[in-house]
Amino acid sequence: MPRKNAIRKWEVKMPPNEWYRKEDPWNIKDNEYEKKKAEIIWTMLDYDDILLDVGCGEGHFTNKYSSKFSLTIACDISNRAIERARKSYQHIAFFPHDIREPIENFKGKIGTIVCSEVLYYFNPTEQKRVAKNIVSLLKPGGKLVVCVSRYFTEKDIKDLFPEIRWTKTYREYDKRLGDDYTLILGGYV
Ligand SMILES: C[S@@+](CC[C@H](N)C(=O)[O-])C[C@H]1O[C@@H](n2cnc3c(N)ncnc32)[C@H](O)[C@@H]1O
Repeated sequence: MPRKNAIRKWEVKMPPNEWYRKEDPWNIKDNEYEKKKAEIIWTMLDYDDILLDVGCGEGHFTNKYSSKFSLTIACDISNRAIERARKSYQHIAFFPHDIREPIENFKGKIGTIVCSEVLYYFNPTEQKRVAKNIVSLLKPGGKLVVCVSRYFTEKDIKDLFPEIRWTKTYREYDKRLGDDYTLILGGYV
């Protein structure tokens, strides 16, 4: 079912570095709903060698996910967020990167990728490019977990990532979103 209030967020977006003028701009560290989403994502992750968290922000949830991986790497377009993440979580390799561009060094090498609350920054053409970049990083059989609040239907995500065989879908309701919800999908390439 198309979501009624699926406005297009990129029309109202602010550049990510502006958001990070203040620390923890989405209050993810203390907000129960945000923590619940991260918990769901964490339960969907299998123990694996390498995790890549795309759009990791200040790395608070990357840190939680990292407990299941031998090596965790994470990127974000915001230099401010990456600097803070590096100071807080030194066991994770954070690097600035715009995921609209490919990450050549890691192509076909990543076992697990998390992309949480990032896709709505992009217009439809960019979304396709980002999805292609993400899938190109996964090794055969690699796992992808995508989380989106509003703006996307399950079909939107499935259309964006035709290479992924989706095995799990969660809908998490939050009173701040009215009758809308967050979607979390997990699957394998
Ligand atoms: C709403 S936050 C989500 C943070 C975290 N993934 C979570 O689930 O709480 C969106 C993040 O995506 C990052 N981002 C936006 N555009 C990006 C791009 N083109 N490449 C990489 N990261 C991007 C922002 O800087 C921000 O840290």
